[in-house]
Amino acid sequence: MTNKASLKSIAAYIPEQILSNKDLEKLIDTSDEWIQKRTGIKERHIAQDDEKSSDLGTKAAILAVQRANLKPEDIDAIVVASLSPDYFTMPSTACIVASNLGLKNITAFDISAGCAGFIYLLEVARSLIESGAKKNVLIVGAEKTSSVMDYEDRSVCILFGDGAGAAVISKDEGYPILDVHTASDGRYSELLKIDRAKKSSFCSPLAMKMKGNEVFKVAVQMLQNDVVEILAKNKISPDKIDLFIPHQANLRIIKAVQERLNFSDDKCVLTVQKYGNTSAASIPMAMNEAYEQGRLKQGDLILLDAFGGGFVWGSALLYFGGKNFS
Ligand code: COA
Repeated sequence: MTNKASLKSIAAYIPEQILSNKDLEKLIDTSDEWIQKRTGIKERHIAQDDEKSSDLGTKAAILAVQRANLKPEDIDAIVVASLSPDYFTMPSTACIVASNLGLKNITAFDISAGCAGFIYLLEVARSLIESGAKKNVLIVGAEKTSSVMDYEDRSVCILFGDGAGAAVISKDEGYPILDVHTASDGRYSELLKIDRAKKSSFCSPLAMKMKGNEVFKVAVQMLQNDVVEILAKNKISPDKIDLFIPHQANLRIIKAVQERLNFSDDKCVLTVQKYGNTSAASIPMAMNEAYEQGRLKQGDLILLDAFGGGFVWGSALLYFGGKNFS
């Protein structure tokens, strides 16, 4: 029997500035009513011009380390997931977060798994712990999605927001990560991507592009199948789940999965209304909100799922190993 890994803490950082649907009405041809009806989103938070993904991630990371009752020097690997990293390919955002925490000589690297970033982070972190390679792995989903957004493209910019979430994964002491499933299908890579922006005048040279309704259909199908499969594989019936904490992309996608599993609203964490889609940060931000509200407690059995550009998707089943919020 291998050593199991456990999620020992959760934390988030949300930038102050709010961009509401009403604000977007002034920028593009859209309406609060249209956005809410199609997505459930009312507003999202946007980082300052001089704030980078690493700055958001560092704030969440510091809190996650504190909540795990550790010091930064106890961390021996940092892995960041971001579709909006500080730099294009290098240096990694993880190296910058490590440096911000005062850490040198530490394993630090980024992964690219779009909006499924946090599930992929869990897969990597639990492998590092269960193999015995590392003792305390800090995982961070950090997103300044506004830096890769074309605010003239109404089909995409209404969906996304900025934020960060972080967690510490260590050896289990009674509340293990039971299973993580990750998957991909690159045949869909053209449907959701970050590519060169159309206009050279646009502030970012890169912009997210998406065929929204095609993404929607595949996302619902993949996510519904994935959660059913991970529960069946682990012989856990949906009524045993204390909290379902899905990636917060779109209220209608979440509701479709929620209905398939017959989860009541009190079992489902929803933050998409306030934050929009914060990609790799969305699950840890939602988990953190449930934690700070006292809805997520030590020992709770939680189900996570996520879907993103690639396509990539996945799910996780775990007992929450953090101490209760005080
Ligand atoms: N405001 C008003 N109208 C808009 C609009 C906006 N922000 N964005 C698109 N429209 C218009 C379109 O131009 C189109 O108009 P037309 O019929 O005159 O051509 C109409 O609304 C319908 O567009 P469509 O793209 O078919 O809408 P939709 O019902 O599929 O909703 C999304 C669009 C993006 C909300 C929806 O497809 C979605 O949520 N997809 C999943 C996206 C997602 O979650 N991606 C991330 C996965 S991690």
